[in-house]
Amino acid sequence: MTDPSEIFARKIPAPLKDPQQAKAYAPSNIALSKYWGKRDVALNLPLNSSLSISLGEWGTDTEVSPAETDSLTFNGDVLSDDAPFARKLWGFVDLFCGAGRPALKITTTNSIPTAAGLASSASGFAALTKALDRAFNLNLPVETLSMLSRFGSGSATRSHWHGFARWDKGSAADGSDSHGRTLDIDYPDFRIAIIPVDTGPKLQPSTDGMLHTVATSPLFGQWPTQAEADCAAIEAALRAQNFDEVGALAEANALAMHATMMAARPSLTYLKRGSWHVLETLWAARADGLRAYATMDAGANVKLLFLEGDAADVQTVFPEAQLINPFVNP
Ligand code: PMV
Repeated sequence: MTDPSEIFARKIPAPLKDPQQAKAYAPSNIALSKYWGKRDVALNLPLNSSLSISLGEWGTDTEVSPAETDSLTFNGDVLSDDAPFARKLWGFVDLFCGAGRPALKITTTNSIPTAAGLASSASGFAALTKALDRAFNLNLPVETLSMLSRFGSGSATRSHWHGFARWDKGSAADGSDSHGRTLDIDYPDFRIAIIPVDTGPKLQPSTDGMLHTVATSPLFGQWPTQAEADCAAIEAALRAQNFDEVGALAEANALAMHATMMAARPSLTYLKRGSWHVLETLWAARADGLRAYATMDAGANVKLLFLEGDAADVQTVFPEAQLINPFVNP
């Protein structure tokens, strides 16, 4: 069994010293074909590949600077070391920098509106990995940065590019080939909307939810094969610019993921009454001709996929929708 610190040590020359002030931005992302289930918890390796669209100017800015003592500022607040987010972040920084690292001042700010209720771990760990790479002047290849950011959050592997990205599950025992890559697909009128349902803290962290689903859901056995097939089919439909095929597959994939969780024992349901209300409204509007599809993650909020030409109709059916152009780069 490989230890996570060995993976970092293979890629990063020790010892790291003399950090420079460095900044990085990474967009958040929404999976069209979801990651759910780990084949190795310590190395954070997925059971299936996944595919996402980034969220343009909705993401995380992170700055790393040399300091006398460690300090972390998150969205303008100084966080104490025992805050759960601080523990996770410093744990990642220790892995990245190795033993005896210099003290660092880290400032991280999300441009994702809090009211959107979106998790920011994907953009957060991608931006942090990029900022550390720059602070220590490492110039690691983007795929390596993606692979390393996996140790902060699996979905961070897909936040190193704008547009569509795919996280290949890989097959190497040490996880070295389990990282994101850009699909390099130009689709300038592809749009996302967030329909906020519940912006409070989520019920159960995704890692706990995945472990519980894999361990207890009688429906989980089907999932890795289905998810792999969905990933390939969505990629092909994106390359063919077949929007309705992309949307229908992404919606079915999300519902299948939620079905595996609902069948867990005891059941795990991130979706709330408001989520179902959005889905029923969407399905009724779609029967009347609206070209929009839904996807949901480990939370109650619903995300819609549509094309720019349908933006006004989406906004009419869902006045609370927050529209995002994934191809606007900050
Ligand atoms: O990256 P994590 O550990 O927060 O897990 C993400 C899980 C989902 O958002 C539900 C699916 C995905 O592929 O992003």
